Order: sequence, then structure tokens, then C-alpha cells
Amino acid sequence: MVSEMEGIIIAEAGDETVGFACFQHFLDEYHILNVAVLPGYRKQGIGKQLMGWMLNHLEDTRDFYLEVREGNNAAISLYEDMGFRVIGERKEYYRDKETALVMHKGKK
Ligand SMILES: CC(C)(COP(=O)(O)OP(=O)(O)OC[C@H]1O[C@@H](n2cnc3c(N)ncnc32)[C@H](O)[C@@H]1OP(=O)(O)O)[C@@H](O)C(=O)NCCC(=O)NCCS
Repeated sequence: MVSEMEGIIIAEAGDETVGFACFQHFLDEYHILNVAVLPGYRKQGIGKQLMGWMLNHLEDTRDFYLEVREGNNAAISLYEDMGFRVIGERKEYYRDKETALVMHKGKK
């Protein structure tokens, strides 16, 4: 069993890197740190594919968590589509003092 791991996955189109996601995995918790897709490649399902890989590839994960800017509607919609729900918030979480929503998804 993997007890601690962090990593980055990338999405490629031809020889170009068009998206990435970073994560930390500790015991049975998975923390999604960032997901991003190049502007010209958005709204084509790449964000969903990156999220899907993280949600599927570790069988021993029980809980997935992430933080997202409360004004980031695109990312919040993506995470809600993938089954995440808001469970709390962290005030002034970002350097510019924007609030972060804390989102969680339990094991399938
Ligand atoms: C958030 C982000 C990763 C989404 O990537 P993407 O490849 O465009 O996402 P997908 O094409 O897989 O879209 C999946 C779902 O996300 C939601 N979504 C994506 N872009 C959206 C937008 N501009 N407005 C509203 N919802 C959006 C939709 O629910 C969409 O499902 P649908 O296509 O069936 O409507 C991308 O917009 C991005 O890189 N943003 C900048 C970086 C960022 O803010 N990352 C999040 C940090 S926490």
C-alpha cells in the first residue's frame, strides 16, 4: 500500500503539454492541489480527464479534498460535476485574501 505520495500528471496534445494536475496522497486521504488547462484547450473535457485519473487510480483512498477560490465558477462547476461538495471555507486563504471553499468527495 502506498502511504505517502505526491505527484503531478500532465495532459498532452501532440507534443504540447496542455494541462496538469498536482496532488498529495497521505494514508487514505488525497489532496488535490491544482488543476489547470491551457486557455485554448479548455471546455473540451481535459479538466474532467485529469480529475478522473486522480479519482480512479488509487483504490485505498477514502477521502478527496481540495480548496478553490470562491469566485472560480469554472473550477467549482468542474469539481461539482466530479462529485465534490462544499464542506467549509477558509477566510483570506489566498495571498490576495480571497476566501477558499473547501470541497470533499468520499469514496465511490
Ligand atoms: C477549471 C479548469 C481546469 C477546467 O478545465 P476544462 O478542461 O476547461 O474543463 P472541462 O472541459 O473538463 O469541463 C468540465 C466541466 O467543468 C465545468 N466548466 C469548465 N469550464 C467552465 C466555465 N468556463 N464555466 C462554467 N463551468 C465550466 C463544466 O461543468 C464542465 O462540464 P460541461 O462541459 O459538461 O459543461 C480550467 O478552466 C482552468 O484551467 N482554469 C484556470 C486554472 C484554475 O482556476 N484551476 C483551478 C484551481 S483550484
